[in-house]
Amino acid sequence: MKILSIESSCDETAAAIVENGVKILSNVVVSQIDIFAAYGGVIPEVAARSHLEAITPVIDKAFSDAHCSWDDIDAIAVTSAPGLLGSLLIGTLTARTLAILHKKPLYAVHHLKSHIYSNWLESDNSPSFPLLSLVISGGHTQILYMPAHNSFKIIGTTNDDAIGECFDKVAKILGLPYPGGPAINKLAKLGDPEKYPLPHPKTENPLDFSFSGLKTAVLRAVQKEVGVPISHPSSDLKNLLTDQQKADFAASFEKTAIDILLEKLKAALNEHQEVKSICFAGGVSANAALRSKASESIHNLPLFFPSPSLSGDNAAMVGAAAYFEIISGVQPTDPYSLNIYPRIAIS
Ligand code: KG4
Ligand code: ZN
Repeated sequence: MKILSIESSCDETAAAIVENGVKILSNVVVSQIDIFAAYGGVIPEVAARSHLEAITPVIDKAFSDAHCSWDDIDAIAVTSAPGLLGSLLIGTLTARTLAILHKKPLYAVHHLKSHIYSNWLESDNSPSFPLLSLVISGGHTQILYMPAHNSFKIIGTTNDDAIGECFDKVAKILGLPYPGGPAINKLAKLGDPEKYPLPHPKTENPLDFSFSGLKTAVLRAVQKEVGVPISHPSSDLKNLLTDQQKADFAASFEKTAIDILLEKLKAALNEHQEVKSICFAGGVSANAALRSKASESIHNLPLFFPSPSLSGDNAAMVGAAAYFEIISGVQPTDPYSLNIYPRIAIS
């Protein structure tokens, strides 16, 4: 079964053709990162306009790279939620129009589900069930329990900021480019992770996360280090820090963030000793320090990480998620009434 998939939930316009949920025939991603690097973050209106420009050529390229025509396509899948409304609209309207025009069944896929299914793509082994998935992206931080395909239970979630958002905000304080995660990951290699001790915020549910306090703790520690009051604007701190201090803050923050993620994951494992594998998913799962620390500290279970090129937003993962929905018996969405809000909930 070949699925044409489309992803446009944030600042990547992407289309892919995936066979049987595992084999990538094409995977085209046009990123708007260069546009938003200048602003230090995504501007939703600009993102939507950029998707509109890119979406048709991206889909055309997905067909030509895969050497496929419409006759080869069995279904269309599209990210329907969550994401930026204007961005989602471009992808979903394109997908529903193509589904009507070419008479193909349409599947509306939850973005986080897709991130989890990136672990099935181009991999020699598939994760076994039941599994735990740590979904760590720019907008989400969750631990999900999956007893079987297309069955999800959220057992831990963030009470405030997402981990990726926290990487991006700390990077901004340190004067690093957007997106902050890769920049912190790189700079942290030059710093001392023990230099600035940072707190592990407490949560009522021990499997939940809270990252807004960590971000503020970095801000306060930087202000203290450079000797300015807490009223000093965060946008100016980068000018007062030395390069070594920036590297030490990047390393200390990254270490703390990873320790928190792994602490919660281990607590979840403790509660679910029956799990047979662990899947990391989402943009932050590209983090090299997280990958090596996780492998060092969890020995008794196979760990799955998406290949780095599939950890960020892409459409191949949407095609994988849709395939496993289809084989689990999910029915297609009516293209005439596809409703991207309210959200299609994972629960
Ligand atoms: O999954 P994703 O591409 O988009 C969302 O669905 O949100 O995740 C983007 C997030 C950004 O916050 C980015 O800074 C972070 O993933 N990220 C990283 C790394 N690469 C991307 N965070 C830490 N280390 C990385 N290597
Ligand atoms: Zn994502």
